Amino acid sequence: MGIAILDNDKSTVSILAEIIDEMGESPCPFTDKDKFLGAIDPKSHCVAVIADDFLDVIEGTKQVYPSIEILAMGSLDGSRCIQAGAAHHLGKPFSADSFRQVLQTLLIGMKARPVSENGSFIAADRSMQRIIEVLDKVAPTQAPVLIQGESGTGKEVIARYIHKHSRRSSGPYVGINLAAIPDTLLESELFGYEKGAFTGAYATRVGKFELADGGTILLDEVTEISVGLQAKLLRVLQEKQIDRVGAKSSLPVDFRVIATTNRDIEKDIQEGKFRSDLYFRLNVIPVKVPPLRARRDDILPLAAHFIAKVAKREGMQEKILSPQAKEALLGYEWPGNVRELENVIERSMILTDGPEIPPDIISFGMQGSQEPAGAYAAVGTTIHDMEKKLIFSTLESVDGNRTKAAVLLGISIRTLRNKLNEYSAKGQNSDT
Ligand SMILES: Nc1ncnc2c1ncn2[C@@H]1O[C@H](COP(=O)(O)OP(=O)(O)O)[C@@H](O)[C@H]1O
Ligand SMILES: [Mg+2]
Repeated sequence: MGIAILDNDKSTVSILAEIIDEMGESPCPFTDKDKFLGAIDPKSHCVAVIADDFLDVIEGTKQVYPSIEILAMGSLDGSRCIQAGAAHHLGKPFSADSFRQVLQTLLIGMKARPVSENGSFIAADRSMQRIIEVLDKVAPTQAPVLIQGESGTGKEVIARYIHKHSRRSSGPYVGINLAAIPDTLLESELFGYEKGAFTGAYATRVGKFELADGGTILLDEVTEISVGLQAKLLRVLQEKQIDRVGAKSSLPVDFRVIATTNRDIEKDIQEGKFRSDLYFRLNVIPVKVPPLRARRDDILPLAAHFIAKVAKREGMQEKILSPQAKEALLGYEWPGNVRELENVIERSMILTDGPEIPPDIISFGMQGSQEPAGAYAAVGTTIHDMEKKLIFSTLESVDGNRTKAAVLLGISIRTLRNKLNEYSAKGQNSDT
């Protein structure tokens, strides 16, 4: 397996290539971003060493090819590289030894990793089996799929399943959560921008549609975008071409689109919040995922699956559910669906000492993955920072759904949008 290197500076690239060669691995050097993007491929590269000013390349590579580990190098902000998906950041100037060591650690870590982490899709209930029958027919085609279902029902799992069973499975799978990104940034996220398109656009940026060329793009929470952007999206779907922001001409792109929503999209259309022509484009194949409470035969198989998953991850013995614990799981309504079940099982596994999970360990209605807000309130934290953290953790807990987050926070959706815009504007200033 090769190790790709990308740096503007020729001599840095050749020094790195030499060290990699000495380590008995095969270096693939690049000084040009576009050539790198055209060549990078998980079939030939396991690690990419990328100069840290190529933040967009780091992010794009990791999004499209999650199996490729990225080592970012340079003198910029390491934490931003890690956020963008790099496994490590090594500052410049660096010593040959430290580079060797970091690379070695990455390579060893990769060999220890299980081959297929995302391969498991549990569908024991009759209703889910029927959905799989549909998916198996639809996956190999080019048809757009709209997946509807409550938060936590497994919409993203289904989108991946479709991609994996499609003729595009060796191509990229690119997901974007449209609820989590402020409107002001969304257009350039989706379509990219040309260098100089606006203040701060120092380099050309490739958008998600372009990254998905030859593969599948998942538009997660598609109902959350503004009506203006809906029109642009419709055009891209119709014409299969994109315009980077600030570009003079369009680029053809070959993608298959899958969209998800946890809202009542027909109602949004009636209320004029979602364009019906866009809906018809996306909804060629509708897939409605039932809530967990409507497919109770999935509950115990999913629980067993998550028990095995936690056991493996934590290196602990698998445990069994006591009969009363099973009853408790089967009797619950699961408003948070499969995601909530996963949290409940994870918590129960960790809190149970013996080999059997008793019923009293199982507690519902807690947001397992959320830290209590009080944990943030260290003296010295500003109210502004507290507020920002609270907003982001609330958004996370409702899967990026801004409407629900606004309700939980007790503010209007408009206020929420304004605050998110404000944070992203500040983030941009301090980066540049
Ligand atoms: N059928 C399933 N089999 C295994 N895991 C599942 C299944 N459905 C959901 N999950 C797990 O539950 C969590 C929530 O699923 P996700 O696809 O993110 O839901 P949604 O996108 O509908 O909110 C994820 O961790 C996912 O791996
Ligand atoms: Mg989701």
